[in-house]
Amino acid sequence: MKFFVDTADVAAIAELNALGMVDGVTTNPSLIMKSGRDIKEVTKEICEMIYGPVSAETVALDADGMIAEGRELAKIADNITIKVPLTWDGLKACKVLTDEGRMVNVTLCFSANQALLAAKAGATFISPFVGRLDDLNIDGMDLIAEIRQIYDNYGFGTEILVASIRSANHMKEAALIGADVATAPPAVIKSMANHVMTDKGLDAFLKDWAKTGQKIL
Ligand code: G3P
Repeated sequence: MKFFVDTADVAAIAELNALGMVDGVTTNPSLIMKSGRDIKEVTKEICEMIYGPVSAETVALDADGMIAEGRELAKIADNITIKVPLTWDGLKACKVLTDEGRMVNVTLCFSANQALLAAKAGATFISPFVGRLDDLNIDGMDLIAEIRQIYDNYGFGTEILVASIRSANHMKEAALIGADVATAPPAVIKSMANHVMTDKGLDAFLKDWAKTGQKIL
């Protein structure tokens, strides 16, 4: 499973990238707002750092507006993925932009039928939002399993990019189901390294080591 980082925080991306953990980056208007940076400036900086796809989101509501914004965002770098919402106009924009050979990430997906339409429209990535479904007491991971089955039934090439990930458990579930990509905030990716038994074990080893009076360096 590929790891995308869901942030526009350049320093946080750089830290994970140094460990080889970053296969791509996703941003959205809320994350750009949080960064306090200019969208083109910060996205360019990220694209220069990351070889893989970097999603930048359109904000127009009509297809023509999304297409124009998408083409403008694509000028930033070759690895830009244009993000459009899963609306009828978003699907129209997806078809036009993918026909031009551009990568498109269809976002704000909350149902298997929406994911099926995005695949038919040629989406490069579909972004189902698991955390926001969990918020409604609907298991977001059930949706990932449904989309996986539908895409596999018909050999769709659209990659399932699990979004709105809130926990390390979401990462594990996405990988077990066979999602192609998971995009998560840096803190969630880092939290995957945590285990209380690791901390306890390390503490015991260090206490015993101190009793030996030895040094390695
Ligand atoms: O990838 C989409 C993500 O940024 C939304 O996350 O936690 O606001 O639902 P969240």
